[in-house]
Amino acid sequence: MRIIVTGGSGFIGSHLVRLLIKKKHIVLNIDKLSKFSVNESLDDLKKNKKYNFKKIDLQNYSKLSTAINNFKPNIIYNLAAESHVDRSITNPINFVKSNINSTINLLEAANKYLDKNTKIKKNFKLIHVSTDEIYGSLNSKEKKFTEKSKIEPSSPYAASKASTDLLVKAWNKTYKLPIIITNCSNNFGPWQYPEKLIPVIISKILKKQTIPIYGNGKNIRDWIYVLDHVDCLYTILKKGKIGETYNIGTNNELENINLCRMICLKINKLKKNKFNNLKLINFVDDRKGHDLRYAINNNKIKKTLGFRSKYKFENALDSTVKWYLNNSNWLKNKTK
Ligand SMILES: NC(=O)c1ccc[n+]([C@@H]2O[C@H](COP(=O)([O-])OP(=O)(O)OC[C@H]3O[C@@H](n4cnc5c(N)ncnc54)[C@H](O)[C@@H]3O)[C@@H](O)[C@H]2O)c1
Repeated sequence: MRIIVTGGSGFIGSHLVRLLIKKKHIVLNIDKLSKFSVNESLDDLKKNKKYNFKKIDLQNYSKLSTAINNFKPNIIYNLAAESHVDRSITNPINFVKSNINSTINLLEAANKYLDKNTKIKKNFKLIHVSTDEIYGSLNSKEKKFTEKSKIEPSSPYAASKASTDLLVKAWNKTYKLPIIITNCSNNFGPWQYPEKLIPVIISKILKKQTIPIYGNGKNIRDWIYVLDHVDCLYTILKKGKIGETYNIGTNNELENINLCRMICLKINKLKKNKFNNLKLINFVDDRKGHDLRYAINNNKIKKTLGFRSKYKFENALDSTVKWYLNNSNWLKNKTK
């Protein structure tokens, strides 16, 4: 198949591109290449004939539309987005505008392309990759998010993603654009830009700097290994139903402080140094509007798609920490 991945130079997108190439698909990665991209993770694919790249900001409709019409995809995965909550709080206008305008352009360009290519439309899927943060926050007793949970975003990031989900649904209802929406929990793994929690913790430990933990550290996130996420996105390509929403998660709820302690101890063990990394933990003022808990009910992907995660959280965290230690120069350069 011919598959476009937008945001393919980002953390999750680059893992998805690699999986699709492994499955012998022809891939076009469209990415604007921001400071937060990790395009170097795809360096080894540059000579692969199945891999194509175009540097385009999705906010540029005409460039995007030309790329789609020339490539003639059967599938589009949409991952391009400004993705960091803290940046959405400090610079909400550009952040939100970018996410919303990019999605409208993609929907409209895909819609016009399919109007001209009705045969392709029959089996076409636009898979919009979104987040569980659109559902807002749970308290410790509330049931996990299902696909029917109320949309109640807290941060400008979450609100921008919720807006894009609604736009995607509107293009499906109004223009019969064949779409699927996925809402996934917090990802971790190799090549994550060190503005996100796990690589920040590792980077601070390696520099022997204090590790900033928001509030009392009791906020809970539901962690998924990035390779499980992209596997699930591939299952959705194969078995997902048009018009449906799928929550993606693998049942790994953990308080931020406990995650941080686990990483501190792992690195102590691996590096065999005498300094106790736990001493670096430093509680800082809480993030504005900080959601207490996210948790995904993954019954739908299990029952309707037969999806099963391949990786155990502990093992995946272990190999992730080892990857960052083995690539400490990369980490250092990204945090200069
Ligand atoms: N990281 C997570 O835990 C997580 C969880 C659930 C959903 N998501 C969603 O998955 C997607 C990918 O997340 P990520 O963590 O890989 O993010 P990332 O920031 O690592 O990568 C995003 C990529 O998109 C590109 N991009 C952003 N805006 C663009 C635009 N206007 N035009 C072209 N390219 C653009 C960036 O250059 C970057 O390479 C996002 O849509 C995010 O909302 C992420």
